[in-house]
Amino acid sequence: MSIPKTEKIWCNGKFISWDDAKIHVLSHVVSYGSAVFEGVRCYETANGSAVFRLTEHMQRLINSAHIYRMDVPFSVEELCQAVLDLVRANKLNACYIRPIVLRGYEDVGVDPRTCPVDVYLACWPWGKYLGAEAMSEGVDVCVSSWNRPAPNTLPQMAKAAANYMNSQLIKMEAKTNGYAEGIALDVNGHVSEGSGENIFVVTNGTVITPPLANSSLPGITRNTIMTLCRDFGIPVAEQVIPREMLYIADEVFLCGTAAEITPLRSVDRIKVGAGGRGPITERIQEEFFAIITGKKPDRHGWLSPVGVPSGAVR
Ligand SMILES: Cc1ncc(COP(=O)(O)O)c(C=O)c1O
Repeated sequence: MSIPKTEKIWCNGKFISWDDAKIHVLSHVVSYGSAVFEGVRCYETANGSAVFRLTEHMQRLINSAHIYRMDVPFSVEELCQAVLDLVRANKLNACYIRPIVLRGYEDVGVDPRTCPVDVYLACWPWGKYLGAEAMSEGVDVCVSSWNRPAPNTLPQMAKAAANYMNSQLIKMEAKTNGYAEGIALDVNGHVSEGSGENIFVVTNGTVITPPLANSSLPGITRNTIMTLCRDFGIPVAEQVIPREMLYIADEVFLCGTAAEITPLRSVDRIKVGAGGRGPITERIQEEFFAIITGKKPDRHGWLSPVGVPSGAVR
């Protein structure tokens, strides 16, 4: 899938054209993976386009940079405003937004601190990450032979580019073997997360997700789901999940900005529950989609209106 080009990319406070958003091959990020990034979605709601949990995404971006001693010369508020300006400038209703903070071109040594920190924001139209049918039918996944990085290796609370070398191994292995996605275990063999999604299991009416200490990203969709469960009065817990619980749980689903809420049909070819989307997954999914499309009130203040002029493209 090639990215559908849009007109503008925001670079260090200015709009540049899509084709001009280039870096030198000897930029620090190319050799050493020294970038942090975000994935954010803008939805078309009944009341105009709106970016989902923008402040939380920009705060996580700043947190990721902070872990890697990168000084981002923009505040969370400035970045939020820049994202809204970018979506408006590209006249998009619904899109995916990719903020990137990277170490640029200056020095080729491992110590990155003399290299400039450059901030880019790009956006483009993007559909369902795991396929449109996945939302209702569920997908088939495997447990990966690759583990998530151990604590004190690559910090998993940072959404850093380098972490995604591990994600790529998980994803490529899964797809090569005919699965839609791979679930990684942590260094101790406990369930961690998918290559680009957090994971939840539903067992005896309780919704459970691994704690962050199991090498999982502090996902914003994960937090959204936990909040919706509390709203519904559904018991929800962060709890260590042994691998085999994936096989005997009543329901399992993946979640993330790209994957949204995707049920699992099977894990390692073992049927999950009845082998499709379970009732609790469906209830959470329905509420999530009702809020992001504006069909239900945005009671948690999760949507930032873009104010796209009429005649915008999708
Ligand atoms: C490894 C990983 N885990 C979890 C997630 C889900 O995070 P979020 O819901 O904030 O998109 C993502 C996606 O960003 C991810 O790449």
